[in-house]
Amino acid sequence: MTPRQEARMSINTGDRGQWSSKLGFIFAAAGSAIGLGNVWRFPYVTGLNGGAAFVFVYLICVLVIGLPYLYAELALGRAVQKDPVGSIASIKPKSAWILVGGLGIITGLFILSYYAVIAGWTFGYIFKMFVPNHLTFNEFVADPLLVISLFAVFVILTVLVVYGGVQGGIERWAKILMPVLFILMLILIIYANFLPGSGRGLAFYLEPDFSKINGQVILAALGQAFFSLSLGMGLMVTYGSYISKEDNLISSGLFVALADTVIAIMAGLIIFPALFAMNQNPEAGPGLVFNVFPAIFQQMPMGTLVGVIFFILLSIAALTSTISLLEVPTAYLVDEKGVARKLAVWLVGILVFLIGLPSALSQGAILGMSKPIAGGLEFLSLMDFVWGNISLAFGAFLLSIFVGWVWGARHASEELATGNPSFRKWSPLWGFLIRFLCPVTIFIILLNLFKIF
Ligand code: TRP
Repeated sequence: MTPRQEARMSINTGDRGQWSSKLGFIFAAAGSAIGLGNVWRFPYVTGLNGGAAFVFVYLICVLVIGLPYLYAELALGRAVQKDPVGSIASIKPKSAWILVGGLGIITGLFILSYYAVIAGWTFGYIFKMFVPNHLTFNEFVADPLLVISLFAVFVILTVLVVYGGVQGGIERWAKILMPVLFILMLILIIYANFLPGSGRGLAFYLEPDFSKINGQVILAALGQAFFSLSLGMGLMVTYGSYISKEDNLISSGLFVALADTVIAIMAGLIIFPALFAMNQNPEAGPGLVFNVFPAIFQQMPMGTLVGVIFFILLSIAALTSTISLLEVPTAYLVDEKGVARKLAVWLVGILVFLIGLPSALSQGAILGMSKPIAGGLEFLSLMDFVWGNISLAFGAFLLSIFVGWVWGARHASEELATGNPSFRKWSPLWGFLIRFLCPVTIFIILLNLFKIF
């Protein structure tokens, strides 16, 4: 058996997580997409970029670039049934395009390295809910031993799930718990919007002041769209490679994008009204939601219980995302390098932990590391900007050219029509989006980095 076949076998026997039902892919992909990106990143980036105007640009990016590009990744993955590097190599062997797959794998490693730090905070907040008022967020993240232990725990949790097999556990959990998260967030929306003074927050969030849109806002919105939908590094190529030919990529992809966007918008509907009601600053950066949510729970009837449940659910949402981030480098080592799966998972886990240490320590734990490095960003925010924004956008730029021009939009369209023949009438539009609109727009937006645009 080739390593690839072995890997496929292990998927089917549950090592990589076999999703028992037909909805398997949808749960895996939605689980990957919905995470801290929606509840932690989206509100803080919205706050930093002027509120409603950013939300407006974000929604356009999801619809016009994110969704068509999601289909490109899914089509490539299902057609070739390989990890990102292998997929590209089997279409264009021995070409420089393979480096694009490599970039995706490195990006996954780096995103996971700081993502698991934030996930560790989330996990720690489950317990912190019992002792409100004890530590402020700033004190909490400045405790080196605490943040490193929580970070380590979360990496180990991720490794164990990916290693031991998901075997219906996560799927069953996700099926029950994600709707619970949804309902809990609905309740919190209602509560937050009844707080006195919340109206100004709603206006900040929903009434766009279009004069606030500039190159930086557009770049942030594009990056957020890729980050939230788990795009730009080949994750959806990898997950797409496990989808059966009968499945309908179009409707599955649409559902994933819709669910992801709804959860993000809901997070904002809680955060901004509450934030303005409590006279806090929307531009607080990465700590934003860790200050606002506990403050809501403190005032709320049964707040401790609600807070504990909320942070448990958020930790699980983060876990289904870290699993997917760990999966890409692991699949690469297994598929391309023939490393045994269990060894690969631990190798990647240890590497991620080492790369993530400076991020964990950059929020006050070691003062020298908490200073702004470039563009006013300290280490963790800089990592998030470089990998979670620029690298994803750049990866999507290259991959949309690869799918649209090198592999060919026609082949990709055929793949998308397999399982959904009525897609054929949309394929000229999709072909235009993936060949021209996606790469050109991303390129122009990226130029803003060099202040050319
Ligand atoms: N989309 C996830 C979130 O919103 C994060 C994530 C998981 C991700 N896998 C990814 C981002 C792959 C980019 C690429 O929290």
